[in-house]
Amino acid sequence: VARALADGPLTGRHILITSGPTHEPIDPVRYIANRSSGAQGTAIAAALAGMGARVTFVTGPAAVPPPQGVAVVRVETAAQMAQAVEAALPADAAVFAAAVADWHVVGAGASKLKKDGSGKPPALAFAENPDILKTVAHRPDRPRLVIGFAAETDDVVRNATDKRARKGCDWILANDVRPETGIMGGTDNALTLITAEGAEDWPRMTKDQAARRLAHRIAEALA
Ligand code: CTP
Ligand code: CA
Repeated sequence: VARALADGPLTGRHILITSGPTHEPIDPVRYIANRSSGAQGTAIAAALAGMGARVTFVTGPAAVPPPQGVAVVRVETAAQMAQAVEAALPADAAVFAAAVADWHVVGAGASKLKKDGSGKPPALAFAENPDILKTVAHRPDRPRLVIGFAAETDDVVRNATDKRARKGCDWILANDVRPETGIMGGTDNALTLITAEGAEDWPRMTKDQAARRLAHRIAEALA
């Protein structure tokens, strides 16, 4: 259990954050994954802890190390992330910044797949992973504030607005992750905050600045 780093407007609040990618094994030596450095989720966790929150940080195998002053729960797969999130509740707010793999490979086992000499690749069967955000947003004892992300390449605001309704979360932070934006893997982010009131464009800023802006909004909403 993390002790709060500092006193601040979020002192006494528990906030759950998911971050990083998940890895879904194909066999013991291979996996499929989403692209995610974990930078934005890590910055959000640091900003919230800096404002006094007790933070549980559930992270997949990310490129950046977790921040100081938070309770870190390391997971690999979406199923493990879902379990860790359940175990971490209740919380006052939850921020789902993880890039969760949408599918896992059915029958991934202890044996390495081998080329069989035929020149034909193996046929992998996929099954859908649990939607962690949607499940939490629909719990009767859900956090008061449930926040998701929507990384999109097309029709960003429309897709993210639909996603907010479909998942039942309070806010969605949408961004345009086409490679030419340089957002994925970069230091900056350009987010649109989507709430019941509509869409609010935030200017391009560093991921640390975006994290502090979000942390202040969360503190206002929970006050
Ligand atoms: N998310 C989650 N569990 C999943 C998939 C997504 O918790 N199995 C969360 C993400 O952390 C993010 C939000 O849901 O906060 C939106 O993720 P996204 O991949 O954009 O949404 P999907 O519903 O998976 O839609 P898409 O088909 O666009 O991937
Ligand atoms: Ca997805």
